[in-house]
Amino acid sequence: MTDKRKVRKAVFPVAGLGTRFLPATKAVPKEMLTVVDKPVIQYVVDEALDAGIEHLIFVTGRNKGVIEDYFDIQTELEQTLKERNKNAELTLLAEILPKAGTTSFTRQQAPLGLGHAVWCARDIVGDEPFAVLLPDMIMRSEKGCLKGMVELYEQSGGNVLAVEECAPEQAHKYGIVGVGDAVGDGFKITAMVEKPPAGTAPSNFFINGRYILQPEIFGILETQERGAGNEIQLTDGMLKLAKQQQFAGYHFRGETYDCGMKEGFILANVAFALSRGDIRPGVEDQLKALMAALK
Ligand code: G1P
Repeated sequence: MTDKRKVRKAVFPVAGLGTRFLPATKAVPKEMLTVVDKPVIQYVVDEALDAGIEHLIFVTGRNKGVIEDYFDIQTELEQTLKERNKNAELTLLAEILPKAGTTSFTRQQAPLGLGHAVWCARDIVGDEPFAVLLPDMIMRSEKGCLKGMVELYEQSGGNVLAVEECAPEQAHKYGIVGVGDAVGDGFKITAMVEKPPAGTAPSNFFINGRYILQPEIFGILETQERGAGNEIQLTDGMLKLAKQQQFAGYHFRGETYDCGMKEGFILANVAFALSRGDIRPGVEDQLKALMAALK
């Protein structure tokens, strides 16, 4: 049976140490680093809510408490804003506050890999399909990536992975899929391999960090052995699930910024700043002048 139950819950694995961003991430989780004026995690949560997600599950780790605080009210701050008639700021804070009871937090106690992080959410997800959004990747597009995936899922059921094309020499950095026949507006995934050695990738379509999965993945992850990088890999678990269930690929055609890398994080700041009417005028000309001066 192809399962098409509504995707209501989303898992955000936010336990990573962020070593690439030290010293910034010594005291601030990498998910809280700012792109223009919002933390990275807010972009990913907005994408999930826009796709109809009703419950946000954060798999956190030690020193990530500030993420939980961010999704709560801040009584003192709000009181001060009220006293100062800062109504726009109050509205902004109210808009990003999740409804009571729609967030859950659990901890991944040891950095054993993405497959293990997702498995840590099993009791909170329960027996229903769910989304996974890797917060390193933030996207810019007319239609949100997860929203497009949900539309494909409504046609295909089963499991859906968002993919994008990469240069062949970049394939070893990602999970790569094999491309089969059309399924709805997507395609059937015929193979999956995590970080294939150079020259062995089945295609140049990489998994971009957005997943819709059926709950049977949890039973598989429970006994999943370590794979690439000596970590419990989600891709290896999905490969096993693909023997019983369909996996469809959704070709995402927007812009993706890997905020786990310095270059991607800086580009995200530039791209989101230039896409905003209130910021672009103050940035664009100076950016051009800077580029010219640095030639
Ligand atoms: C993870 C996944 C990989 C995916 C990538 C996207 O890898 O394991 O399949 O392509 O995210 O960013 P990581 O970036 O954690 O090494």
